[in-house]
Amino acid sequence: MGSALKRGIERAGYEVRAVGKNPAAVREAAQWGDLVFLAVPFGALDDVLREAGDGIKGKVLIDVTNALTPDYQLALGFTTSGAEELQKKARGATVVKAFNTVFAQNMGTGEVKGQKLSLFVASDDRGAKEKVLGLGRELGFDAVDAGPLQSARSLESLGFFQIQLGYGLKMGTDIGFTLVH
Ligand SMILES: NC(=O)c1ccc[n+]([C@@H]2O[C@H](COP(=O)([O-])OP(=O)(O)OC[C@H]3O[C@@H](n4cnc5c(N)ncnc54)[C@H](OP(=O)(O)O)[C@@H]3O)[C@@H](O)[C@H]2O)c1
Repeated sequence: MGSALKRGIERAGYEVRAVGKNPAAVREAAQWGDLVFLAVPFGALDDVLREAGDGIKGKVLIDVTNALTPDYQLALGFTTSGAEELQKKARGATVVKAFNTVFAQNMGTGEVKGQKLSLFVASDDRGAKEKVLGLGRELGFDAVDAGPLQSARSLESLGFFQIQLGYGLKMGTDIGFTLVH
């Protein structure tokens, strides 16, 4: 997911730094970026937040994770979401839920089979949300304002559903969601 996002965002003309499990590199990249993507497994979010430290204060933190347990079931959903829980411990950063309903393979173009995909973007902060909506459009998506961060409860379920379709029902990754509007 990180590599796919990096390719697409660089093609849109931005400078991107991608780092792996090196805590010093995570901290440095988090301080450097305006938009910080957390393209890690749901279970690694606490580690990454700790590694990023206070450098993420004031940054836009884009949560692309699908909140899954190690055996690929939804970890939470009806009364909260991974994104809302992340916001509570985000050290002054503003969380935006986006990109979790798009397979990495389709990230670079925002299309499947010539058809534009919807990019659902949820956040409680209008300015942060506008930045991610704008980036989504530049990548080629139909960027859709999905409302407050609470909408992540639906988006994380939708991401889980896509995994079921793609892998469980063997439709593959050449699929995606489009909102007709
Ligand atoms: N793949 C998709 O199509 C897709 C679509 C929508 C959403 N997502 C979400 O995107 C996230 C990433 O998925 P993925 O498919 O890219 O998974 P992945 O291929 O397993 O990549 C996860 C990356 O996170 C790194 N990582 C793990 N723990 C870390 C830590 N503590 N600190 C820093 N980096 C750490 C891993 O590093 P190492 O390689 O060193 O372990 C790896 O580079 C997941 O939450 C997933 O639900 C994925």
